[in-house]
Amino acid sequence: MRNSHFFSTPVPREICERIDNGLYDAVGEQWWDPVSSYHQTLAFLNPVRVGFAKKALLGGLGIDPRGKKALEIGCGGGIRCEEIARLGFDTIGIDPSEASLRAAIGHGHASGLNIRYGTAYGESLPFSDRTFDVVFCCDVLEHVRDLPKVISEVARVLNPGGAFLYDTFNRTWVSRLAAIKIAQEWKRWAFMPPRIHVFEMFVKPREMKLLLRRNGLEWRVHRGTKLNVSVFEALGLLRRRAKGESTYRDLGEKIRLVESGLLAVLYLGCAVKR
Ligand SMILES: C[S@@+](CC[C@H](N)C(=O)[O-])C[C@H]1O[C@@H](n2cnc3c(N)ncnc32)[C@H](O)[C@@H]1O
Repeated sequence: MRNSHFFSTPVPREICERIDNGLYDAVGEQWWDPVSSYHQTLAFLNPVRVGFAKKALLGGLGIDPRGKKALEIGCGGGIRCEEIARLGFDTIGIDPSEASLRAAIGHGHASGLNIRYGTAYGESLPFSDRTFDVVFCCDVLEHVRDLPKVISEVARVLNPGGAFLYDTFNRTWVSRLAAIKIAQEWKRWAFMPPRIHVFEMFVKPREMKLLLRRNGLEWRVHRGTKLNVSVFEALGLLRRRAKGESTYRDLGEKIRLVESGLLAVLYLGCAVKR
């Protein structure tokens, strides 16, 4: 179990070795292929994230994206970066996976968006202090080896008054059931590769708050997510996909996450640099 040691040291090697971040090198064009699990999983997440970001940045913090610089850490194939750029930010995405970055660059050009991409880890950002007005970290914090270092890097590259927007998985029995057992392990329903997430690397909201505070980031809000359909309906749809009676695209058309007060599984957050 990830516990107090993870605030000051990297995740222990025996835990970290169980996650397969190498999967992202094999994803390639699948990031944008509507019948792939990667595209659909992120597509079903994106509307809730974009809605949250708009509310937090444009509404709550009153940040006008024009002329402002945004960074996405762990941008993968650029699905989230493209939404950030469309909000009007001058956008940069970084990721350790070069194959994912190639897909991001190709799709960005085809979409006519001027996004810059580069190879880097969140633990060591190749940018000067106080470079960005907003930093995004979406579905990435539970993938990194050294979470405290990533948060300190986020704080370093943000301008004072700049915002940090993130989403990640809580570490609860409900998230173990939903994101590990049903999504990855139990073949009856599974729709993701078995080592894409490791339960012990999930982050409790109170752990995030502590890390933010230690790095001079003022926590503002956490919001939860839930499915737009009932659990029984979702299991039925997943079962049909697992049996080959429907596709990821069918799944993506029917299931999506919506914002809720339930923080137990995937939650979204916002903090501001003092
Ligand atoms: C689930 S994907 C999220 C992609 C993107 N943020 C999105 O929401 O569309 C996780 C990404 O984190 C990247 N990643 C893994 N370890 C990382 C690290 N230490 N620093 C930055 N990114 C990392 C992976 O290569 C992968 O592209």
